[in-house]
Amino acid sequence: MQRGHWGSRIGFILAATGSAVGLGNVWKFPYTAGNSGGGAFLIVYLAIVLTIGVSVMLSEFAVGRAAERSPVSAYKKLKGGAWPLAGFVGVIASVAILSFYSVVGGWTIAYIIKSAGGLLSTSDAESLGGLFGGFISGAVEPIVYHAVFMALTMGVVLAGVHKGIERTCEVLLPMLFLILVILAVRAVTLPGAMEGVAFYLVPDFSKINGEVLNAALGQAFFSLSLGMGAMITYGSYLSHKENLPQAAIIVTLADMSVAILAGLIILPAVFAFGFDPTEGPGLVFITLPAVFGQMPAGVFFAMLFFLLLTIAALTSSVSLLEVVISYLIDEKKMNRRPAALLSGGFIFFVGIACSLSMGIWGDIKFIGDRNLFDSLDYLSSNILLPLGGIAVSLFVGWVILPRATQEATSNGAHPFAWVKAWQFICRFVAPIAIAWILYSGI
Ligand code: TRP
Repeated sequence: MQRGHWGSRIGFILAATGSAVGLGNVWKFPYTAGNSGGGAFLIVYLAIVLTIGVSVMLSEFAVGRAAERSPVSAYKKLKGGAWPLAGFVGVIASVAILSFYSVVGGWTIAYIIKSAGGLLSTSDAESLGGLFGGFISGAVEPIVYHAVFMALTMGVVLAGVHKGIERTCEVLLPMLFLILVILAVRAVTLPGAMEGVAFYLVPDFSKINGEVLNAALGQAFFSLSLGMGAMITYGSYLSHKENLPQAAIIVTLADMSVAILAGLIILPAVFAFGFDPTEGPGLVFITLPAVFGQMPAGVFFAMLFFLLLTIAALTSSVSLLEVVISYLIDEKKMNRRPAALLSGGFIFFVGIACSLSMGIWGDIKFIGDRNLFDSLDYLSSNILLPLGGIAVSLFVGWVILPRATQEATSNGAHPFAWVKAWQFICRFVAPIAIAWILYSGI
């Protein structure tokens, strides 16, 4: 069967950027930075993104396009042996991530509606915190929104490869960026915001430890959609003429800018309103409404923002589900529709448990002191994705280097200046640094 292909060159870059830019940038990045020392975290994060991140992304594109298969089949086709296992771990990671991602996606949908109803038009820390806490710990409401988010994700995936994703990204991403810039201007000019700006932008190197490194590494992989084959899958739909290194750089820079901007909104606002930067997953949902409360036409901006965030989350969740579905299609010979229903349905049920772990099931601990939601997040971002990154780097660097290099340069049509650096990072830097960070973080 002929594989689906992207409609155009820019279409692929848009779709890959759509996968990368999502809740990871706007929701996860600011609270992870807040938890892990602000400026110290930012510096480590940027260093990882600009070396290992961009290289792993190029490797995933190259593997995907060389094989024109989803991850498990790609490893099989290019080498076989135990390598397909790396692809399979990616399928597990997708399921784990999408289970909690969809719950948070549901929160963003709920917040469109709550802001439209004027529920959030206050800048009072206490009441916004209470509202959020009460909402996510409920047994019904968040699950209904999670169901809506999951249904939307399945709907887009069923509509096929290029129709659904590319067009949405084309309109949405510039709009999201614009509204983030407006919000950043508002946030840094709030009285008392400068303390937050300093916390975020001035690194305190003494705060860098194993945990901060591990958090930054996990965040980099999560935000760039790396380490589980999403970019292998997207690369497999790609034409052989495409300039891969250029695409990897554009996607990485776009993703990085959105994350930096989101931090520049949330952390200054946290200090201006007297919230706690280590608040955790609720930080964005509690802090942002306070910022909107201080803006003219705040209700309108709040609605627009949560709408855009929901769509950004959808273009990411689609890429997560696509990994599972393309595995079922390529390896289990299923058709797209039953594959989507089966995987989407399963993830929906795990997501219910995740949502309940924010409330009535909160006392059930899995990894360390973490509830199910946090455990799946920790397991996937901080362990499975880095492991997937080691695998794809070793694979490209040591197993198929000539083939991968040929692919990365499109058979010499797109030579790039950093080809030696890329190879060196794949062979040595990425595997050693990731393994060391994993070890020191655990
Ligand atoms: N990168 C997305 C975000 O920042 C989430 C995501 C989509 C993802 N696909 C992925 C994370 C694949 C890891 C792997 O919101």
